[in-house]
Amino acid sequence: MSRKMINEEVYHRDPDATQKQPQHSGKAEIILALDVESFSQAKYFVNKLYPRIKIFKVGSQLFTICGPRITEFINKKGAGVFLDLKFFDIPNTVAGAVRSAVRLRVKMLTLHISGGQKMIKAAVDVARKESYGLKIKRPLLFGVTVLTSKKAKPGEVLRLARLGIGCGLDGVVCSAQEADFLRKNIRDKFLIVTPGIRPKRGAVHDQKRTATAKEAIKAGSNFLVVGRPILETKDPILALKDILLK
Ligand code: C5P
Repeated sequence: MSRKMINEEVYHRDPDATQKQPQHSGKAEIILALDVESFSQAKYFVNKLYPRIKIFKVGSQLFTICGPRITEFINKKGAGVFLDLKFFDIPNTVAGAVRSAVRLRVKMLTLHISGGQKMIKAAVDVARKESYGLKIKRPLLFGVTVLTSKKAKPGEVLRLARLGIGCGLDGVVCSAQEADFLRKNIRDKFLIVTPGIRPKRGAVHDQKRTATAKEAIKAGSNFLVVGRPILETKDPILALKDILLK
């Protein structure tokens, strides 16, 4: 299946949209970052928030302790897995990691664009081949530009985004502060994942480039990643509603 077809399935775009138009419909999907210590904590949040939230992000903290048990649990629930392990290694190693991720049936995964062209192309290639071989939908591949916990110049984010998309990635991870700039400067269709989402006047923690959900959607983000503003409250459903409203 081609990248274009996959993007169109995932992303509800106007069918008349031209290549030049930004790939954005004014809607975005919330992803919960399951940055928790144990399988039971992760299970608690998935059971509590699915199907309000349909994609759950498994990062290095949770995957290191749980391994594939957690991705299997999320898939069985009927939700999607965003495997955020931010691969960054020699091309052969990253290709092997992506092959393993495809076998875990993840919906989305990340790698660092700063790993370079050869690494990204190896990842894109293996994701296509392995999914084709298994007759499953290919996961969407996202390239991390600059972490949202760091300050970044939009030009730096644009350079990395262009490199990643040019190598065949489906999209990039960047802050809402650069999303609009990327949409205006990159003609290809691509998806944007935005972490650092905070309710207005909410604690920013270690994040430097934050935005509200509304601001991120307006800027052109397709997927909004939220962790602590939901994980650190007594009422996660209320916190989710709060984020969507403000
Ligand atoms: O708790 P918080 O909402 O800040 O969580 C943001 C999540 O997004 C974390 O899991 C973090 O690893 C992830 N992330 C990020 N910045 C990136 C890529 C991913 O904060 N550039």
